[in-house]
Amino acid sequence: MLELLIRSQCKIIVLNTIETERAIEYVKEQVGVLNKKLKESSRIEDLSEYQLKIWDAIDGLGNREYANYLDILRHIAEEEDEPTIYLLLNYHRFIREGLNVPAIISFIRKIANSSKFVHVILQGEFNLPPEISQYCQVIDIPLPSKTEIFDLLKEICKREELKVRKVLLEECAEYLSGLTLIEAQKMFEIAIVKGKGKIDPQLIQRLKAEKVKKEGLVEYIAPQETINDLGGLDNLRQWAIMVSKVFKNREQAIKKKVPVPKGMLLAGVPGTGKTLSCKILANLFQIPLLRVDIGKLFNSRLGETEANTRKVLKEIEAQAPAVVMIDEAEKAFSGLSSSDSSDAGTTARVISSFLYFMQENTAPLFFAFTVNNVLALPPELERRGRIDEIWFVDLPAPNERKEIARIHLRKVGEKPEIFDLDKIAEATKGFTGAEIETAIKQAKLKAFYEDRDMNDNDILEAIEETIPLSVSRKEEIEALREWGKTRARLANSSTTKKKSANKKVLLN
Ligand SMILES: Nc1ncnc2c1ncn2[C@@H]1O[C@H](COP(=O)(O)OP(=O)(O)O)[C@@H](O)[C@H]1O
Ligand SMILES: [Mg+2]
Repeated sequence: MLELLIRSQCKIIVLNTIETERAIEYVKEQVGVLNKKLKESSRIEDLSEYQLKIWDAIDGLGNREYANYLDILRHIAEEEDEPTIYLLLNYHRFIREGLNVPAIISFIRKIANSSKFVHVILQGEFNLPPEISQYCQVIDIPLPSKTEIFDLLKEICKREELKVRKVLLEECAEYLSGLTLIEAQKMFEIAIVKGKGKIDPQLIQRLKAEKVKKEGLVEYIAPQETINDLGGLDNLRQWAIMVSKVFKNREQAIKKKVPVPKGMLLAGVPGTGKTLSCKILANLFQIPLLRVDIGKLFNSRLGETEANTRKVLKEIEAQAPAVVMIDEAEKAFSGLSSSDSSDAGTTARVISSFLYFMQENTAPLFFAFTVNNVLALPPELERRGRIDEIWFVDLPAPNERKEIARIHLRKVGEKPEIFDLDKIAEATKGFTGAEIETAIKQAKLKAFYEDRDMNDNDILEAIEETIPLSVSRKEEIEALREWGKTRARLANSSTTKKKSANKKVLLN
């Protein structure tokens, strides 16, 4: 990537990472490739090799040829004539603190517009002001692979003279993926100290979970729910089973040119099983679920949203294979109308980065967006071709309500056969799956309190006491269903299919 950018005469390149060592390694490797290619081609006669110069903002200050962060830029902009690539390490310190930014901008502009074979790579973790970013191409160094982490751990063990079995170390590397090498090293060393010299992968998993929770943008979930926990939604279910086959045999599918789906959007009434469906999907695919907290992402300090988005995407990529759930995605968009236009620009860019990432990345990832409020949905998300399928999850039909009641009766340890499921289905017209679940739990609670077995009446009473969303927020839900009818595929089982089995379906 870097080599390509330099060959296409891109002058200012930003390496977005705090890992100095990896940045140096990456740049050296890329410059090597570049110089090799230059030597082989005779197209540019006056250029056969670039030299690489490295300058570090942290220890370079005071004791180097260029005394400060402006001197070095000035030198590059005005004096350097040889084909040179400058790698300026930790440069974010100056741009972040806003130190004399106008001067930086002016030198950057000069370099960007120069016709000399001089390039600058800025390394650090940046939130670049637009005056600078317009001249830059940003490269994200991917997070280390599991093998790289494994090698690191092996080295640490050797240094500490610890004998650890390979499988154990592999397990540790698995848990430490998604971190930078420095972070992984620190966490592993803490684990060694805490474990008094013993390596315990469970401890590492806990440390990692704590860290992820604290930073809290991507949550790792190991879903327990299986397809048997989902009532109804037959169309979605069938599609999911089909996709899971493609996904599980991905290599083969790609070879046979089968289009491997990359994502879906579930829109619908709250409590109808959208989040549940995502968990089930991960279970079907037999891979973990990553939940992206999009609300938190957008609530981060101004200017951090885009840097955080890159961080999130990098972490997701490192955690592959996974189902990535962007739950209640509208939370990101809801603040839009009330805030100013620059904010809208950020949202659009973040959504585009997600969609672009979905299309471009080759890692085994499946994106599941869920939304409760489609009216806030940005058009980018809805546009066909980006997301493989847009589903509308409607209020359950009678046969679906029966299935949902059956599932939740079993969950509270009851035998569904002894209840009048038809009656329950009829009484819960307009209820969501979540509301049916709540009514059954309430009934169970009451029966327990009164020291007796639970019966139909307990459930019917609980239903009676419930005001479903479809009543309390009637207009909103109706607008949502109207949208669903015309703009999306219906996730629920088609009512016609089962009409002979249950005529009432048609009435609903
Ligand atoms: N179709 C369904 N089948 C079984 N349970 C359901 C269904 N829909 C909702 N539920 C119950 O309601 C809970 C909340 O549903 P959830 O998936 O969070 O809804 P949503 O994400 O659509 O708001 C689920 O955990 C589940 O217990
Ligand atoms: Mg949900």
